[in-house]
Formats: sequence, structure tokens, C-alpha cells
Amino acid sequence: MAKKEIAKGIYAVGAIDWDIRDMHGYSTNRGTTYNAFLIIDEKITLIDTVKHTCRDQLFANIREIIEPEKIDYIVTNHIEMDHTGCLCEMMDLVKPEKLICSTMGKKVLLDHFHREDWPYEVVKSNAEISLGKRTLQFLETRMLHWPDSMFTYVKEDGLLFASDAFGQHMASSKLFDDEVDFSELMYEARKYYANILYPFSPLVKKLIDTIEEMNLDLKIVAPDHGVIWRSHIADIINAYKDWSSGKAEDKVLIIYETMWESTRKMAYAINHGLAEYDNLSVSMINLKNHHYSDVVAEVLNAKALVIGSSTLNNGMLPSMNTFIYYMKGLKPFNKYTAAFGSFGWSGEAVGLINSICTDLKLEVIEDGLKNKFIPKEEVLADCVEMGRRIGEKVSAA
Ligand code: FEO
Repeated sequence: MAKKEIAKGIYAVGAIDWDIRDMHGYSTNRGTTYNAFLIIDEKITLIDTVKHTCRDQLFANIREIIEPEKIDYIVTNHIEMDHTGCLCEMMDLVKPEKLICSTMGKKVLLDHFHREDWPYEVVKSNAEISLGKRTLQFLETRMLHWPDSMFTYVKEDGLLFASDAFGQHMASSKLFDDEVDFSELMYEARKYYANILYPFSPLVKKLIDTIEEMNLDLKIVAPDHGVIWRSHIADIINAYKDWSSGKAEDKVLIIYETMWESTRKMAYAINHGLAEYDNLSVSMINLKNHHYSDVVAEVLNAKALVIGSSTLNNGMLPSMNTFIYYMKGLKPFNKYTAAFGSFGWSGEAVGLINSICTDLKLEVIEDGLKNKFIPKEEVLADCVEMGRRIGEKVSAA
């Protein structure tokens, strides 16, 4: 396999996982990569490792360049197992002088691997370590997205190893952002943000400010998943600014699950009312056909969520339950919501949806439309009216 040099003397040695389709509940439809990097300097340094199932790729890639035993330092930017899955094996083989991590990184490493004997070198924000010709500078990024997370910046190369930030779950034989389809790349970056970083948006906002204040000369941003940014760094940073500040498009999602088609009829009638607003993009999302982790990628930049479920056993239908509780954990913000749904005798679903949206401090703009069994024409007309009201409100926002 050819060596993959990303800057002079700095190599990508991570792994491509073409097969993975589920990452702790996130549907990784395009697979992913676990990126790791090798810096050849007076102190040879490995940045991160990979998931244990891909350890052979990592060791083979390193051996293309040097024998792993020659590595002097290992930097672990993030302890989650997709990046430390073969750290124990690597540590036992390499016996490095230093295992460089954040303060919380050491704690999380000990909680994972229980190895008091490792040569931990704890670094705080702005600490520097010389490798000889190059200098590593560190930036703790607590809760982005774990307490241990940090960035490592190679000052002389303007190269930021960004851990999980700016990542995309996208397997590719290509290394760089300008070698893949840009719209697919930005979609995967958006989906990644929505599923991984959305709950930490206030911290993302601060981090972007910090990066700008540091005035780093960013030439390459290398995340731990997906392709490396070199031509579209400003695009991804601006996208993170938009996503972390809740900037949304003129986009409405009608997200629903239906039991015997009545809720679906209501959804289509609401869509009919919304269709009068040409400025809006409206998507009908039947949860039977969409994975919840794909749906939240759309939620991220939508202005309004119109959510419908039939009532089953005094609650929502199962896919709606799964979606709404998943979305709740991601703490969406800055959205209008409205609820609707059919029922037979008790009809709790609409109230439950409204209550969860209220708890999330989303702006519930309608009382909600409930219909007993099969909707009559006048109920569908009410749905159309509700669609019109939502369209007007969103258009004015
Ligand atoms: Fe890619 Fe948080 O691990």
C-alpha cells in the first residue's frame, strides 16, 4: 500500500471501515474511517490509534514507514474506543517515552485500561512539546465531545489534528476534501454534527471563537473521521458557526408515523397548506422509511418541525418514541414546533409531543390537531389551515 503523506514527513496511517453501518445507533450509510497519523521527526510521534477491528490496517500502514517500536511519543486526543481500540497493544509493543493526553484524558484512560504504569504526560491548553523540528501545541476541548477530548496543533505545518471535531462518517480511498463530492461531504459533516456535537453547540461556538482568537495559520485540519480539510477549511468552520448558533433555512419538516393511514392523511393535508409558500422547502418524513439519525441531520437546519403520531397504548407509536427521545438528547434549539395525530379513544400522542417540545424550550406554535379515527373532510381542511398558519409564521421568521 502506498504511503499517504499529508504534509512533509506526516503520514495518514489510520484505517478505512467500508462495512460499518451502525456506530452506537448512528446509521453510517457510507462507512467511516478511523484516522491516525505518524509524524517523522527527532521524536517520532503517533497521533491516535484506531478501532480494534482495524488494528491490522494501522500496523501495516505504520510498517510501510517505520517499525512501530521506533515510535517515541503517542498522543491520544480522545479516548473513545474507535480511537483507542488498539492502544493497549500499541503501548505494549512500542513502550513509548510519553503517552500524551489531557488532564481528563489521563482519568478516562485509567478508567478504560487501568494501566497505572503507562508514561502519562498530561498537557493543558497552550502547552507545547518539541519533537525536534516541529512543535506540538495542545488545546483542551472538554465535552467536544467527551471530557477528555483535545486538539493537537503542529505549529510549523499549520496542521490541526482535530479529534472528532469536523469529522464525517464517510469511507473513502481519497484523503482530502477536494478529492470527494463536495455536497456529499458537507451532508455527512452536517449529519455528523447533528448526531455527535449538537448537544454541545454552546461549547462549539466558544471553541470556534477560541480558534479564531489564537489566529492559527490553519493549512490542514485533520479530523479523526472522514477526509482531511485543506481546500474547504473556511467552509467547514463557517458551517460549524451556523450550526452551533442555530442558524436555520426556510425549511419545514413534517415528521410522522401512522398506524392506519389517518395520521398520514393529516400529514399530507398539512403539507397541502404549507405548499402555498414557495419560499419554503418542505419534506415529508415518514419514520417507517427513515433512520432517526438521518432525520436529525435535517432537523439541524430546519426552522420548523411538524410532528405527528397516532396514539398507541396511551403513547406515541414506537418509531416516533425512538426518534423523539433520540432528538431530545441532542437538545435541538431555535425551532418552531406543532403536533398532530389520530387516535381511537384516549389520544395522548399529541400532548406528549407538545410536552417534550416544551421541555426542550422549542417554541410550540399550535395547540395541536387531534382526530378520532378517520378524519372527515372538515378535519383535513383544519390541517390545511394549520399548514398555512405554520407557513406564514416560518416565512416571517
Ligand atoms: Fe470518534 Fe468520539 O469517537
